[in-house]
Amino acid sequence: MNTLTRRPRRLRNHPQLRRMVREHQLTTADLIYPLFVVPGEHIREEIPSLPGQYHLSADQAVRVAKEAAALGIPAVEVFGIPTYKDEDGSSAWQDDQPVQAAVRAIRREVPELYVMTDVCMCQYTTTGHCGHVEDGKISNDATLPLLAKVALSHARAGAHMIAPSDMMDGRIGALREALDGEGFSDVAIMSYAAKYASAYYGPFRDAVHSAPQFGDRKTYQMDCANAREACKEIALDVDEGADIIMIKPALAYLDIVRAAREACDLPICVYNVSGEYAMVKAAAARELIDERRLVLESLLAMKRAGADIIITYHALDVARWLKEREC
Ligand code: PBG
Ligand code: ZN
Repeated sequence: MNTLTRRPRRLRNHPQLRRMVREHQLTTADLIYPLFVVPGEHIREEIPSLPGQYHLSADQAVRVAKEAAALGIPAVEVFGIPTYKDEDGSSAWQDDQPVQAAVRAIRREVPELYVMTDVCMCQYTTTGHCGHVEDGKISNDATLPLLAKVALSHARAGAHMIAPSDMMDGRIGALREALDGEGFSDVAIMSYAAKYASAYYGPFRDAVHSAPQFGDRKTYQMDCANAREACKEIALDVDEGADIIMIKPALAYLDIVRAAREACDLPICVYNVSGEYAMVKAAAARELIDERRLVLESLLAMKRAGADIIITYHALDVARWLKEREC
C-alpha cells in the first residue's frame, strides 16, 4: 500500500498549474534603466568595464531612452560624466552639464518616460569622494548645501525624482527642504538608504571615473558586516521624507531587503550594481552560464526578498525576454 499522502510535487506537474501557484513575478514595470551621459554629440561608446552599456551624449541618450520606453520600461536613472572636476564638485550643479542636458532632452523627446537622476559628488570632485573634503576628511555638514544645489539643478532640468547616493547624514531632510523651498514639492526622493561600502561598485567607478583619490568610502558607506544598522539608516530616511528607499548592492544583501520589507511600508528599490552585472557578463562570455535564465532568476530573487523596483543594467534585455515569454 502507498503510504505517501503528502506530495508537494503535485503542484509542479503542469506548467499552467505552476503559473497559477507562482508566488512572485518579475515584470517590466519593476525596472529602472541606468544611463551614462557624457559631454558632446553623436557619442555612443561601449564602456569597457560594463560590456553592453554605453557612454552616451544627450542626443544618443534620447535614442536609448526611446528604446527603453518602447519596451515598456517605466524609468531611467541618469548618471553623468562632467566636462571638468574641481574641489567642490561644482560641475555637478551647472545647468549646462551632461546630466541636466540629457534630462531636458529626454523629458522633451520621450514625454512618457519617468526620469530620475543620481545625486552625488564623486564624479565631480577632484578627490573622487561623495562629499566635500576638509583637512583630509569628508565633511558631512559642508556637503549638504552642495547636494541641495545639485538636486535643484536636476529639478530645474525636469527630473521627476532625484536619488541621492552620497550617504551623508541628514541629506534626505536637507534635500526635501531645498526642493520644497524652490517650489519642487512634486519632485520625489529615492534615498540610497542602505548603501554598503562594496567591492561590487568597481566597474561603475571605472565607467564614470569616480574612484576615490585617497582612502576609501568606509567613513560614509555602510560596513558590509552590519544588518541592524541598515534599519537605522532606513528609519532616518523615512523620517526625513524619503518617498522610496533603496538597498545596494542587491544579491549579496537580500537579507537586508527582507528586513527592510518587514520594517518599512515605503516602496523598496534594489540596485543590481555594476559588479553583479560584470560577473554575469564575464561568465556568459565564456559560456559558463545561461545568461538569460540566470538574470531572470536573480532579479526574481530580489522581488521574492521584498523589492518592488530594480535598477539594473540588464533592463533592456529583461524587457525583451519578458515580452518574448508573453508571446
Ligand atoms: C556614486 C554611485 C556609485 C554607484 C551608484 N552611485 C558608486 C560608489 O558609491 O562608489 C554604484 C553603482 C554600480 O556599481 O552599479 N555615489
Ligand atoms: Zn558618490
